[in-house]
Amino acid sequence: MGVRTLGVAMNGVTGRMGYRQHLVRSVLAINEQGGVALSDGGRVVLEPILVGRDAAKLGDIAARHGIGEYTTDLDAALERCDVYFDSQITHARVKSVLKAIDAGKHVYAEKPTAETVAEAVALAAAASAKKVKNGVVQDKLFLPGLLKLKRLVDSGFFGRILSVRGEFGYWVFEGDWQEAQRPSWNYRAQDGGGIVLDMFPHWHYVMENLFGRVRSVYAQAVTHIPERVDERGDRYEATADDAAYGVFEIEGGIIAQINSSWAVRVNRDELVEFQVDGTHGSAVAGLRGCRAQHRALTPKPVWNPDLPATARFRDGWQEVPDNAEFDNGFKVQWERFVRHVVEDAPFPNDFASGARGVQLAELGLRSSAEGRRITVADL
Ligand SMILES: NC(=O)c1ccc[n+]([C@@H]2O[C@H](COP(=O)([O-])OP(=O)(O)OC[C@H]3O[C@@H](n4cnc5c(N)ncnc54)[C@H](O)[C@@H]3O)[C@@H](O)[C@H]2O)c1
Repeated sequence: MGVRTLGVAMNGVTGRMGYRQHLVRSVLAINEQGGVALSDGGRVVLEPILVGRDAAKLGDIAARHGIGEYTTDLDAALERCDVYFDSQITHARVKSVLKAIDAGKHVYAEKPTAETVAEAVALAAAASAKKVKNGVVQDKLFLPGLLKLKRLVDSGFFGRILSVRGEFGYWVFEGDWQEAQRPSWNYRAQDGGGIVLDMFPHWHYVMENLFGRVRSVYAQAVTHIPERVDERGDRYEATADDAAYGVFEIEGGIIAQINSSWAVRVNRDELVEFQVDGTHGSAVAGLRGCRAQHRALTPKPVWNPDLPATARFRDGWQEVPDNAEFDNGFKVQWERFVRHVVEDAPFPNDFASGARGVQLAELGLRSSAEGRRITVADL
């Protein structure tokens, strides 16, 4: 019992994800609530050490949040921490995480864990050889909408699940007459960008955790907007894919079709939605909401283009109740990882599952380049 501290070196805290979701909404929020509660009644408080390339920016963040330590020297940070966390640009991830593993530190990282399967598998192997705890961010599993969808799956509501259709995306401004709302490296393949590498790892763990192992992929990845304007106002060539249209076979014969696009305008209730159809019922889940329709309440539409549609199809769906309080998904996963490190609590979101996500991205890109469906082999 009692309170203990865990030193966490956080690399990439000047970035969008590192600052908002991981530092402010997770690590600092955990400390504000008095730490992570352990099973024996004890608590773990986190001591962040900010790491990055720009001392002035790190100093600003440290001062704003009363954080004692920051450095541009990764080695020095690794000497003083228990856990290394990486939310750098994807391209920079492997080198730093390997360094942390070599130093014998537990490692937690944003997705994708690497840009290639070979590197992602090497990371998983290195972590396992050094016997350090390892984890990858899989935040979408903790979204209220997907938790409610999982509840429906676990209850048997769907009967036999037939198909999943996912629609993800929104318009990312080109950067000329309105500033782009995503960093420019996302649109440069040479910097680890591309929507397949960004989103297929997410879709992989969502499919694997809700429906089953992914057995094959067919994808078409395209660059709809070939030129954009970066943070400094300079034009650049978009060398990475900004939309991907994927079809996945999941074990048990479930077909998932997921569109991902940064070049689509939203005509949905949420920025991502998954419709699941089963023999006994269907559901549509977004980030927060989830609506369902049981087989017994299914209307019988009749195709007749000569008449205007009068049925209000969406009125025949019921909201799935919350029945719980949902905390920030990034924070929930941080708490689980801390318990994994400190008291060996289970943590299935490890580097091996991260590598399977990278594998799906790599095979998706290969499928697109070769114009064929590709089997996903066990890693
Ligand atoms: N889990 C999620 O939902 C989610 C969402 C968005 C991004 N991500 C992942 O998080 C990571 C960071 O994404 P982001 O959107 O926060 O990016 P960002 O550009 O806002 O931040 C990148 C961070 O990496 C650092 N960095 C290190 N080397 C760099 C280099 N050579 N060039 C540029 N920056 C460098 C930057 O200083 C910054 O701290 C990516 O790997 C991305 O895939 C995850």
